[in-house]
Amino acid sequence: MGEQKKQIAMGCDHAAFRLKEIVKAYLLENGWQVEDAGTFGEQSVDYPDFGMKVAGLVSGGTIDKGILLCGTGLGMSMVANRFPGVRAALCHDLFAAIMSRRHNDANILVLGGRVVGDVLALEIVKTWLNTDFEGGRHQARLDKFDRI
Ligand code: RB5
Repeated sequence: MGEQKKQIAMGCDHAAFRLKEIVKAYLLENGWQVEDAGTFGEQSVDYPDFGMKVAGLVSGGTIDKGILLCGTGLGMSMVANRFPGVRAALCHDLFAAIMSRRHNDANILVLGGRVVGDVLALEIVKTWLNTDFEGGRHQARLDKFDRI
């Protein structure tokens, strides 16, 4: 029996379609199974329609990680963080990518296609995927989210 592939969901709007394709190609080359919720071109679309697909998959437990991209990353973050159990982190530097995993156990990485260059975006993705949650006192803090 073959090894189970690591699964990740992705979604974007027109403003980040190009970057989504670059990140997706990296993930596929590195053994990830990508559930691509679209969009699939540069025609103008509404980011909530795609953010909610990915956030819904993560929130419902179908897939445990996601990557969302829009122009700034702001809209996708706002949409995704309305879903129970989703901890979406907008990261435009490596420190944020590391800390969003170590301390916040972020389960969705958000990127702004009009903010970061392709090379930095890929480094952020690699770093985010390779950093573990530290648990302990940070878990106790995350537990408080559910009481809000
Ligand atoms: C689209 O023009 C833009 O508003 C969207 O990609 C995103 O940046 C919203 O937060």
